[in-house]
Amino acid sequence: MDATGTALVTGASRGIGRAVALELAARGFDVVATMRDPGAGADLPAEAAARGGALRVARLDVTDPTSIEIPDGLRVLVNNAGTEAPHPAFEDTPIGLWRDMFDTNVFGLVEVTRRAIPSLRAAGGGVLCNVTSSSILAPVPFYAPYRASKAAVSAICDTLRAELAPQGIRLLEIMPGPIDTDMLAGSDRPAEAIENPVYEAMARRFYAQRSTNVPEQTTSTADAARLIADAVLDDASPMRVGCDPMSIGMIDYWRTVSDEDLAGATVGFLTADD
Ligand SMILES: NC(=O)c1ccc[n+]([C@@H]2O[C@H](COP(=O)([O-])OP(=O)(O)OC[C@H]3O[C@@H](n4cnc5c(N)ncnc54)[C@H](OP(=O)(O)O)[C@@H]3O)[C@@H](O)[C@H]2O)c1
Repeated sequence: MDATGTALVTGASRGIGRAVALELAARGFDVVATMRDPGAGADLPAEAAARGGALRVARLDVTDPTSIEIPDGLRVLVNNAGTEAPHPAFEDTPIGLWRDMFDTNVFGLVEVTRRAIPSLRAAGGGVLCNVTSSSILAPVPFYAPYRASKAAVSAICDTLRAELAPQGIRLLEIMPGPIDTDMLAGSDRPAEAIENPVYEAMARRFYAQRSTNVPEQTTSTADAARLIADAVLDDASPMRVGCDPMSIGMIDYWRTVSDEDLAGATVGFLTADD
């Protein structure tokens, strides 16, 4: 697609959403950078202008339907807003944690998307881009609510891909690996599952593995945003793409490996004797 018309990004106050909003503006879209607290984006219009782009900030809390305003002429929607923690063992996870996770990561995204589809259609089509996570490609322990919320969005992508293709609306699922944001920094600690003696050893191993792999493979938000914008603009892009070396490698591997082999490698490591 060409970089004209309006692009709306949710969760653009910081992290990946902020970088994507700036990158899409630099590519030529009129960007609406939405966030819960517009004050957090006060510097964004000037930053976009310095890169030759146009960007305005608007309030949008994905869990508050009254705050959802979809502009006319929408050509790109980036559903980026998300929440991730905490991570007790499954049996210790209260149902309220599941509900909170799904309120933001699934139901919020659903409501924004539902309302955006008529505008995308009226603009002659465009791109509907959902940010999930490469963590759904591996049997990661202790992340069930987060991974389930992202897997739900992944399934939504498949359905919308079929429903919206005839309307010229292309689906894109971005599945990030470790990107240098507050969310990633917040995950640099053992999962709460460590507090349950049954899961303590596994939680320690899982954290040790994270501490080895993640820091050396972390990608900047600017680099991730460039790959996300490339995929938005590339009509030949596969629906599921990474935005950093780790996720690109994981998706390539996932396309070739059986789920049994994938699970075997992970579970074997997490349960091996020290
Ligand atoms: N960073 C990674 O390594 C990584 C890996 C895989 C997937 N992801 C996914 O990438 C997306 C962005 O993550 P990030 O790393 O940039 O996280 P982040 O730095 O924690 O930023 C999260 C963003 O989501 C916003 N948000 C949370 N709840 C919201 C709500 N109810 N309404 C509107 N906005 C809301 C936050 O707004 P406030 O400023 O108001 O809190 C913030 O702008 C998420 O969907 C995340 O799951 C990230």
